[in-house]
Amino acid sequence: MNINIVVADEKHYKYAEEICETIYNSAIVRGTGIAKRTPEYIQKKMDQRQAIIALDGDTFAGFCYIEKWQNGEFVVHSGLIVHPDYRSVGLAKKIKRFVFNYTRKKFPESKIFGITTGLAVMKINSELGYKPVTFSELTDDPEFWNGCRTCTNFNILQSKENKMCLCTGMLFDPKAQKEQDDTTEKNAFDKKVILHLKKIKQAFLLKPAKKEIEKLH
Ligand SMILES: CC(C)(COP(=O)(O)OP(=O)(O)OC[C@H]1O[C@@H](n2cnc3c(N)ncnc32)[C@H](O)[C@@H]1OP(=O)(O)O)[C@@H](O)C(=O)NCCC(=O)NCCS
Repeated sequence: MNINIVVADEKHYKYAEEICETIYNSAIVRGTGIAKRTPEYIQKKMDQRQAIIALDGDTFAGFCYIEKWQNGEFVVHSGLIVHPDYRSVGLAKKIKRFVFNYTRKKFPESKIFGITTGLAVMKINSELGYKPVTFSELTDDPEFWNGCRTCTNFNILQSKENKMCLCTGMLFDPKAQKEQDDTTEKNAFDKKVILHLKKIKQAFLLKPAKKEIEKLH
């Protein structure tokens, strides 16, 4: 299998219908709610270079898109889909890594989030550094949550005033990640210094003993 993952553009408009159908049919099979997407919306995302497509030659294999909220304070990755013929070989992982790296380059200050009921996505997001959070940590733009209106669970979301639902929110916060990286780096440095000091101390303590042994000879 030679799958190519790229940022989608006008060339990929022809896949929009199949993408929507695959997302919808997969949700029915899973018996879960899903926000419905229209081919026009998928094409708009391609137009904005905010969509990622995976192709096996000319055959559609996978997809995901990006949306910006609150002037770019938040970016969400949505509509992740791998065609049933291409599942369980690590393609979702590759698409998510691609879209994650692309987003980090394009919007380095943005918090990246997703909402999902799927274990596969939770696993992939965790590997990328996302943390599970309550909806209070995600965008409060009502337009984002309105995107859930075609989901079968929308009445639950509405009754909880967009504060919770059946999906788990997962967030990658670049600032929190940097702080964590800095702490890890500092801890590694501290460990090195302590080890070095221990060695000096050991050498110092051994010196008199060595002299005593020399005296005996
Ligand atoms: C969910 C989906 C994207 C996974 O795609 P995939 O290419 O088969 O996933 P990968 O092969 O990259 O697997 C990634 C990880 O998830 C695990 N995984 C895959 N499918 C899984 C499933 N149905 N249940 C639990 N774990 C699953 C894999 O074992 C792997 O874990 P590992 O790193 O511990 O080995 C695909 O099944 C799909 O399109 N489903 C329908 C749409 C959907 O659910 N989208 C997500 C909406 S948020």
